[in-house]
Amino acid sequence: LPPHTETRHGLPVVDPSAAPAPAGPLVLATMERARTYGPDFYQRFGGHELLFAGGLGLVTELADEQRFAKFVGPALVNVREFAGDGLFTAFNDEPNWAKAHDLLMPAFALGSMRRYHPVMLRVARRLLTAWDGHAAAGTPVDVADDMTRMTLDTIGLAGFGFDFGSFDSDRPHPFVGAMVRCLTWAMTRTGRPPATAAGAADEAAAADTAFRTDAAYLASVVDEVIAARTAAPRPGAKDRPGADDRSDADDLLGLMLTARHPSDGTTLDVENIRNQVITFLIAGHETTSGTLAFALYFLSQHPEVLRAVRREVDGLWGDAADPEPTYEDIGRLRYTRQVLNETLRLWPAAPGFARQALVDTVIGDGVHLHAGEPAFVSIPMLHRDPVWGDNPELFDPSRFDPEVEAARSPHAFKPFGTGERACIGRQFALHEATMLLGMLVHRYRLIDQDRYTLTIKQTLTIKPDGFTLGLVPRTPAE
Ligand code: HEM
Repeated sequence: LPPHTETRHGLPVVDPSAAPAPAGPLVLATMERARTYGPDFYQRFGGHELLFAGGLGLVTELADEQRFAKFVGPALVNVREFAGDGLFTAFNDEPNWAKAHDLLMPAFALGSMRRYHPVMLRVARRLLTAWDGHAAAGTPVDVADDMTRMTLDTIGLAGFGFDFGSFDSDRPHPFVGAMVRCLTWAMTRTGRPPATAAGAADEAAAADTAFRTDAAYLASVVDEVIAARTAAPRPGAKDRPGADDRSDADDLLGLMLTARHPSDGTTLDVENIRNQVITFLIAGHETTSGTLAFALYFLSQHPEVLRAVRREVDGLWGDAADPEPTYEDIGRLRYTRQVLNETLRLWPAAPGFARQALVDTVIGDGVHLHAGEPAFVSIPMLHRDPVWGDNPELFDPSRFDPEVEAARSPHAFKPFGTGERACIGRQFALHEATMLLGMLVHRYRLIDQDRYTLTIKQTLTIKPDGFTLGLVPRTPAE
């Protein structure tokens, strides 16, 4: 520990006035601190001290749902300004959380992925068409931008029957820019300099005005999505080109608009539906696209892993020029799925979540938390705990071989959060990402022509910044 470090309940207290945060994205600053002070430490904010937990011991206890629950912390309270009581930002005791959770769960059961599969495949093909164009022209692709195009179109079509048409334009859909700015506003609003600092009040007012404009735009997209369904109710998805044979009634928007809760027979109210639509449009694409971009980065750096993914996809699809992945195929891409897990271990796209004590309690070696007190789980640090061996920075998908995984604590890997407020869209994200990664590896050689050095960009979530790849179509022998 640095000299003169204060302690509380035996853990170091980091005082930013004495030890300013390292420059750069918050996630890296937190990791840097954990390397200096240990995985678990308190950080002083104004008059408060907040516990940051990154070691398996404390995180295991924080995952105990008898003593802890999700904490909707300051950044999420800011997100409530545009996502209200949607699932992600609802307080635990808000009745709309349990109601929406019950009503929307069926849309995320494993079996529902069979329903989304044809739409996911359709959008994946849009990406391949765009990338074929780059491969033919010899131009590199902006990986994060294109992954975002793909995941936004997928959640739009699969969840809401709404087409963002992201590949029809050179620029990302304006929803993406407005969303990123709103998330950045939510993340930075709380840590602003005091209004008394020179120019700070004007800057804050300007940021708030810009935020209101962006939030109003997001709301207008939501209205468009809902109107597209309610103004012209479709008899059934059969009538739509390329759609599967189910009706719209049981996609996400269908459930939101029509499903009745068994306890009281009511549907979600109009305001809540709007909040859910915005929540799912954001939560449903931003993290999956970051994960895919990181996965492609790792594949471009690890030829032996790339070869193993190739063997797997070639085993399924041979040298077919245009394979037609089935729903079942995606479950067979086990190693590809391990690559995604290992990606989520090193760079979990949503790098933290917050917990709150439900009762006065003690965790670890005498760390007291009083009822209501929050603690922040740093997922990248948890994912580098000694339980992962002595070289945790090494990208090694064999860590997720079934027998290796079975021997490890279930609390060592939490990229989707924990407990009843964990990610509802996990299967959706993994199905979509596994399929796309498999298809890309089957089709292209990925060329890191700029010798990219990983740089992290953070809004609330993280992504590789400025990562481009060159593409060369694979010939069967490669
Ligand atoms: C919640 C991560 C994809 C919808 C969460 C949480 C995490 C997370 C860590 C818990 C947050 C907390 O405790 O405060 C991820 C990652 C994804 C992903 C890493 C992709 C790799 C998705 C997708 C959807 C989705 C595809 C929707 C289609 C949600 C929702 C919640 C949530 C609605 C709130 C659930 C609740 O509180 O009831 N996600 N997510 N996520 N996620 Fe995801």
